[in-house]
Amino acid sequence: MKKILLVGAVLAASFGPTSVLAEEDALLVEARKVATSLPPKLIAALQDEIQKSGAEAAIPVCKDMAPKMAGEISQQTGWKVKRVSLKARNDARAIPDAWEKAALEDFDKRAAAGEPPAKLEKGEKIGNEYRFVKALPVQPLCLGCHGPIDQLSPGIKAALSQNYPNDRATGYSEGQIRGVISVRKSL
Ligand code: HEC
Repeated sequence: MKKILLVGAVLAASFGPTSVLAEEDALLVEARKVATSLPPKLIAALQDEIQKSGAEAAIPVCKDMAPKMAGEISQQTGWKVKRVSLKARNDARAIPDAWEKAALEDFDKRAAAGEPPAKLEKGEKIGNEYRFVKALPVQPLCLGCHGPIDQLSPGIKAALSQNYPNDRATGYSEGQIRGVISVRKSL
C-alpha cells in the first residue's frame, strides 16, 4: 500500500509542472528542426548558382527561392516560416515584429560579446503559440550581396537598387547576424 502511494506521489510530481516543461522542450526541438531545415538548402543553392552563373544570377535564389522554400516547409510542417532582419532588404516581408526585434537585438549584443552567432536561438511559448528564432550568421558567401556597398560588383549594385530602393541589408562583415529564421505554430 505504501509502495502504491509512493508511486502515486512520484507520478503526480512528474505530471505536474514537469510535463509543461516537457511539452515546451518538445516544441523547442521541433521548432529548431523546422528552422534549421531551410538554411543549408538555401546556401547550397546560392553556392551552386554563383559558381555556375555568377552572383547577379543568384539574386533570385535569395529573392524567390527562399520564400518559396519557406512556404513549402510551412505546408509540410504546419509551422509558419519567415526571415526577418533589423536591416531588412525586402520591406514587404522581412520587417520583424516586437518579439523578433527584441531577440535580434539580444543576439547582436551577444555576438558582439563573443558568443558564436550560429548558436544563438530563442524559443518561447506565448499564449497559445510557440515561437522560435535562430540567427543567420554572415558567411563569406553572403558578402557579395550583403557586404560593404563599395565592395559589391556594379551589376549587383544595380540589380539591388532596382529591386529594393529601400535596401538596408549591406555593410555586413563575416560573423555578424544578417537576420533570423522565425518560426511559429498555434498550439
Ligand atoms: C546573390 C545575392 C545574395 C547572396 C549571395 C545572399 N543574399 Fe541574402 N538576400 C538577397 C536578396 C536579393 C534578398 C531579398 C529577398 C527578398 O526579396 O525577399 C536577400 C534577403 C535576405 C534575408 C531576408 C531578410 C531581408 O533583409 O530581406 C536574409 C535573412 C538573408 N538574405 C540572408 C543571407 C545570408 C545569411 C546569406 C549568406 C549565406 C545571403 N543572404 C546571401 C541576396 C543575396
